[in-house]
Amino acid sequence: MKIKNSNDKYGIIAISFHWLIALLIIGLLAIGIYMVNLPIGLQKVELYGLHKEFGILVLMLVALRIAWRLSNIVPFLPPHIPSWQKLAARTVHFLLYVLMLAMPITGWMLSSAAGFPVSFFGLFILPDIFSPNENLRFLFAETHKWLGYGFIALIGVHAAAAFYHYFIYRDNILRRMFP
Ligand code: HEM
Ligand code: HEM
Repeated sequence: MKIKNSNDKYGIIAISFHWLIALLIIGLLAIGIYMVNLPIGLQKVELYGLHKEFGILVLMLVALRIAWRLSNIVPFLPPHIPSWQKLAARTVHFLLYVLMLAMPITGWMLSSAAGFPVSFFGLFILPDIFSPNENLRFLFAETHKWLGYGFIALIGVHAAAAFYHYFIYRDNILRRMFP
């Protein structure tokens, strides 16, 4: 298994980033929707704390992932794929990168505006982006929520396309995202 990407396959680092970040994001989406509907209490406070810490971990991993991607080639899509599908795949990947950054950043903004500091597993506290402000908190909470729902839809389209390749086209697109 190669470390770097090749013309037709992802390398082990890109594959590890993909699945580790995908797992964390799916967990954060589920916990996010669950925790906002809990009554105020200890479990809610604990889940908010974990959600914020793992969300910042995603932000750090995504920054490393983008640096790795920019220093690597991207595997070509095989010639049997029509050009509109290649464009659609690249557009969805780009939007997934935008959301992988926008979700943790809007989360950090909304926590700041709410006046709650963001701790990183007790190691350090992130600087506040704003001083407490209810209008900004509401704006970023709504943005975080709707981007989250958009993210779920986009992940659905992306995963459906991967399964379509596996079951209908029977090509190597899904396999090349595995070691
Ligand atoms: C990829 C990373 C993240 C994802 C996918 C994510 C996803 C979500 C989702 C789906 C919700 C529920 C929204 C709703 O239904 O109202 C939520 C809520 C929340 N998230 Fe995140 N989040 C991420 C990162 C972060 C980060 C880094 C922070 C803070 C540092 C954060 C802070 C919050 C807070 C405070 C809420 C509750 C908002 C409220 O009570 O209205 N999130 N998140
Ligand atoms: C939170 C969930 C996910 C995110 C954020 C995500 C994001 C991405 C991104 C950004 C790429 C492009 C990689 C690059 O070229 O740099 C990619 C590729 C890929 N993803 Fe995901 N993904 C997620 C979940 C999934 C799931 C659930 C599946 C399969 C069921 C999947 C299958 C694939 C495959 C097969 C590729 C390679 C496509 C190709 O060869 O061009 N992903 N993903």
